[in-house]
Amino acid sequence: MLLEPAAPSKPLKLGVLLSGRGSNFLAIAESIRSGKLANVEIAVVISNVADAGGLISAQELGLPTALHVSKGRARADHDADVLACVREHSVDLIILAGYLRLLSPEFVAALPNRILNIHPSLLPAFPGLDAQHQAFDYGVKIAGCTVHFVDEHLDHGVIILQRAIEVLDEDDANSLSARILAEEHLAYTEAIARVASNQYEIQGRRYIKRYS
Ligand code: GRF
Repeated sequence: MLLEPAAPSKPLKLGVLLSGRGSNFLAIAESIRSGKLANVEIAVVISNVADAGGLISAQELGLPTALHVSKGRARADHDADVLACVREHSVDLIILAGYLRLLSPEFVAALPNRILNIHPSLLPAFPGLDAQHQAFDYGVKIAGCTVHFVDEHLDHGVIILQRAIEVLDEDDANSLSARILAEEHLAYTEAIARVASNQYEIQGRRYIKRYS
């Protein structure tokens, strides 16, 4: 299923879910502000962590925010609250931006091909936590990031785009992570623009431009 094309007067509404510093969220917000991402708006920023830097930044930007603390709650209960919040804000597309909480199968099934994630490796290599360190320790020569649709498996859904960089001899895991992060900030904007354009379609596992 693809998104319905947004009418010119009706921007695509993003719901950003985050748990931490929120640099990807801020990069997206800046792309919207600067016009690089046209006809897109952030409808709500939702955090599952009270003191997440990204939540504070969103409040400072005057964006609608919501806090749904997940700690100590059953996943299904917490996700039901987040889903209700997303619906309340008429969100079209969910953006996971450092959201450190696995989504329940029910949440994913409720929003097919409407949840995007960014992962700091060239999937399917190095899924899971600390992907940049995993890649560095493995000794790869090319690293990067992936924006993908979320399905019921971890870091697995259809790939929207990837950006690659060379691993330099003088890199350590931290410098590599920083350079991957700079690519993430470009990749998320580009991926959202592709989805918002409604000019792409999913064929099997491939996300490709439509030519009809
Ligand atoms: C990024 O590296 C992203 O790829 C991963 O979590 C990190 C979030 O960073 N999923 P930030 O909070 O957006 O700065």
